[in-house]
Amino acid sequence: MKILAIETSCDETGISILDCQGGLKSPKFKLLSHIISSQIDLHKEWGGVVPMLAKREHSKNIVPVLVKALKDAKLYKVTKTPKTSPTYKKLNKILEREPELLEIFNKILPTISIPKIDAITVTQGPGLEPALWVGINFAKALANIWDKPLIPINHMEGHLLSPLAEKKTGLRTIKKMNLPGLGLLISGGHTELVLISDLMKYKVIGQTRDDAIGEAFDKVARILGLPYPGGPEISRLADLWTPANPHVYKLPRPMMNDDNFEFSFSGLKTAVLYLVKSLGVLNDEQKIAIAHEFQTAAIDVMIKKTTKAIDKFGIKSLVIGGGVVSNKELKKRFKETMKKYPEVDLYLPEPKLSTDNATMIGLAGFFRLLGGAKSKTNFKADGNLSL
Ligand code: KG4
Ligand code: ZN
Repeated sequence: MKILAIETSCDETGISILDCQGGLKSPKFKLLSHIISSQIDLHKEWGGVVPMLAKREHSKNIVPVLVKALKDAKLYKVTKTPKTSPTYKKLNKILEREPELLEIFNKILPTISIPKIDAITVTQGPGLEPALWVGINFAKALANIWDKPLIPINHMEGHLLSPLAEKKTGLRTIKKMNLPGLGLLISGGHTELVLISDLMKYKVIGQTRDDAIGEAFDKVARILGLPYPGGPEISRLADLWTPANPHVYKLPRPMMNDDNFEFSFSGLKTAVLYLVKSLGVLNDEQKIAIAHEFQTAAIDVMIKKTTKAIDKFGIKSLVIGGGVVSNKELKKRFKETMKKYPEVDLYLPEPKLSTDNATMIGLAGFFRLLGGAKSKTNFKADGNLSL
């Protein structure tokens, strides 16, 4: 089964094509294409993602990204007789809110032969609604003119499932996790602990009360005068820290010892702000020491809450997903910690599947289809969609 997946929840326009095989017992897939067009350079100027700019960029890029994805998957063929069927008239309605996209769509799509794919999956939420709508309207238009089933996907389910994909000589097998599982979702918009009682059965047991962890990384980077997105910048600075650094700062670990699975990172960020204000102009070693202490504090809290949940719920598998899992120190510390839990399998995503991408949306779609999901055409973008 070939799945074309679309992701536009934030600042990456992603389209992937997966050749999925096996049933629920032994699911696997070959990645035929994995295209990501990043808007980071554009948003950098503003210090963060500007939703309306993101929407405009998605509209501009999504058709070229599709063409590239089809070409990579060797599914791209030009049709000799461009379509002028009435189906195309309907597109004006579907894409009426995306005038820029409609123009590019009308110019290019009729020249593309219907590719041999079996389903289309698209991120429905959570994310920035103007950005989500571009992917959704585009997916609806494609599903309509190509007559393919369409499956809306929760972006966070994509992050949760992508660590289970294990790459072996071109084919990715999807590991069967021992249950109950625990998901730690850490991204620009989310910090959540999710109990996984069965395949696709989730219960959020705790989340952040204020800033998401990725957001805290981004804001602290800004306080230190580093560019957007701040996560990789903080991580790069923190990696330069050595015990010989003469500056020692202590930051709080908010809610770390509270008897719940909630998080709070806004206080940690504010503590960095006050510290920086009290220090005046920072030299490089001071910035490195602050980045290191902030990163250590954030990781300490995540490890404490996660192990607490592992103990309480008798967890057998820990899955960590979302952009912040790209952080090397975080991966290292979790791997070390989990040595004390030999009965728990740890799953981390490969780098390519860590930050936003469409492959994870295809993977979640594959599971949904195996679970009997039916095509939907009348759904809306939902910026706050929960698991
Ligand atoms: O999952 P993702 O790509 O997009 C959302 O769904 O939000 O996550 C993006 C977040 C950003 O806040 C970014 O700063 C953070 O992930 N991030 C990192 C690292 N790489 C990306 N945070 C810490 N360390 C990193 N190496
Ligand atoms: Zn994400």
